[in-house]
Amino acid sequence: MKKLYLIGNMKMNMSLSELEPYFEHIVGIAENSSNVVGVCVPYVYINMAKYMLDGSKVLFGAENMYHADKGAFTGEISAHMLNDFGCDLVILGHSERRHIFGETDEDINLKVKKALETGITPILCFGETIEERKAGSTYNIVERQITSALQDIDEEDIGRIIFAYEPVWAIGTGISATSDQAEEICGFAKRLLEDNYCLKNSIMLYGGSLKADNAQEILSKESIDGGLIGGACLKLDEFQKIIDTKVEK
Ligand code: PGA
Repeated sequence: MKKLYLIGNMKMNMSLSELEPYFEHIVGIAENSSNVVGVCVPYVYINMAKYMLDGSKVLFGAENMYHADKGAFTGEISAHMLNDFGCDLVILGHSERRHIFGETDEDINLKVKKALETGITPILCFGETIEERKAGSTYNIVERQITSALQDIDEEDIGRIIFAYEPVWAIGTGISATSDQAEEICGFAKRLLEDNYCLKNSIMLYGGSLKADNAQEILSKESIDGGLIGGACLKLDEFQKIIDTKVEK
């Protein structure tokens, strides 16, 4: 069996009262799974994740961070703070950060470097908008986003990153990429990482309307090692079905 990485991205959802049973259940789900299970949660829930998930098989982390170590950055959270709370993961370069909050390729590069320096695994997201896809520039966009995020990072450190192809048009829309579309771009990204950074076994996730009913088909693709799951991670029965996916090597 191929070990899949199935990581939830809660976004700005869930309440304190919903989270306690959620964390309790996900510990059991991960315990019985041969896949790697993780959840990235809003900052205010990280403390609770630390107490309920630390020591379990569930990896946990944040949905963003700032690159500076400390200082006058009202509202921001540093990698060191995440590390203090035992975060394993941090999502960086998510399309909602790029497109709603204006994060640039340079910002994302600084954040990836800082997460690696601090020992937190970045989940580096990249992906094209529908306009970019229609204009035939998907490969260029993906290549630009990946190479700029990896600027001045050595090859060994690049090997510690989890990559996530998330076409913007598939995120939260209910319309996922087809398995062939996802495979095409994940395969392209893997070849780019191998050719340019000598990274042979990159971990490549697909994200964008991944659900219980399309997980098997998408996750069975050769270049796809797991999923970054937004909406479907909020309902544990749905998330569990995705986590239960089994794929032959
Ligand atoms: P979605 O979100 O599964 O709700 O499309 C995925 C993501 O944004 O990571």
